[in-house]
Amino acid sequence: GNALATNKYLLADAMLDVNSGKLIQQPLIEISEGKIVSIQTKPSSLPANTIDLSGHTLLPGLMDMHVHLTSDAKQHGYKRLSSSLPRVTLTGVKHAKQTLLAGFTTVRNVGAPGFADVALRDAINDGDIIGPRMFVAGRSIGVTGGHCDNNLLPYLYKAKAGGVADGPWAVREKVRENIKYGASVIKFCATGGVLSKGTKVGVQQLTFEEMAALIDEAHMRGLTVAAHAHGTDGILTAIKAEVDSVEHVSFLNDEAIKLAKKKGTYFSMDIYVTEYILGEGEKAGILEESLAKERTVGKKQRDNFRKAVNAGVNMVFGSDAGVYPHGDNPKQFSRMVEFGMTPLQAIQAATINPATLLKHTDTIGSIEVGKAADIVAVKGNPLKNISLLEEIKFVMKDGVVYKQDK
Ligand code: ARG
Repeated sequence: GNALATNKYLLADAMLDVNSGKLIQQPLIEISEGKIVSIQTKPSSLPANTIDLSGHTLLPGLMDMHVHLTSDAKQHGYKRLSSSLPRVTLTGVKHAKQTLLAGFTTVRNVGAPGFADVALRDAINDGDIIGPRMFVAGRSIGVTGGHCDNNLLPYLYKAKAGGVADGPWAVREKVRENIKYGASVIKFCATGGVLSKGTKVGVQQLTFEEMAALIDEAHMRGLTVAAHAHGTDGILTAIKAEVDSVEHVSFLNDEAIKLAKKKGTYFSMDIYVTEYILGEGEKAGILEESLAKERTVGKKQRDNFRKAVNAGVNMVFGSDAGVYPHGDNPKQFSRMVEFGMTPLQAIQAATINPATLLKHTDTIGSIEVGKAADIVAVKGNPLKNISLLEEIKFVMKDGVVYKQDK
């Protein structure tokens, strides 16, 4: 009938079932109104409207759980202070497109000034610009002078980031404000960071009482929570306070691994970005004190990544793109394999695991009937060569084709 005539079909050599880890040979996927409506294999005839991706393997659209689309990798430290909010929002338009074309059909944007991320998400959803499906945090929440504050200027300038809050009720109010202005996830800083001035990566920020209040408020409103944490105390306290994911997780110990496993906490470990920071960082304006911190964090984080993987902690792909160039997100896949994952685990970390973390397995994360038609393709077998993910040949989001390379 008429409905059928508008349906699209995708034919490929194989398709990865991220749940079973099996490659399904010769799939023919039928797409209607942005959704997957049927999957056949080895079809005897091809319908009109078939996109022929012979020679390719289909994967679910990739998901990056830690990006900052409004951040420019060429502008760090004091260089960043010269860009206005509208300017960084416009840069975000370019970054959203680069991210989508690199194969990432979903991202979690874990912190942006002035709700620029909400504007980006809404512009994408309205069809004004192209980009990934976005889960957005609005302003990252944290203590005065902490990693989520802006500490570059002296007292005279009274600079204060939008997410700064001290005390249990203050952080609850910040969560409520973020939700009011469009946030769909919550991000807070549980320790100091590498790229913030005057903070210590090993030192906890926010007390247990504050974290518990913040997380309780977010959960009550139906949002999941991500905690930035490098140091052990911050990691442990955030997990005890029921956080959904810990970001970076550099100075992990056995107790944190045990607790994360018990509670089902996800780790999002950005193990590629250290190469960019130490290689290009100085040119990009990263402060010397931050470079020094990175020298203590990068290697440790990679060793601990291996420990977490071996212990069976829930892992998601989180790159911190924005610190390094958007579109280069997939470079992390080969590092994840180098430091302990199988190629399948690395792909699951960027597909079904994030969907589970975000509680959206009904719509995204795998190629299944009823889910959104978020599908990418690589040329060859990604389970044999994970670097193929650095060259995504085809991108479909919600049934719309955004990229089709020969
Ligand atoms: N945004 C993070 C911070 O400033 C980046 C950490 C990057 N380093 C790393 N080895 N993952 O703390």
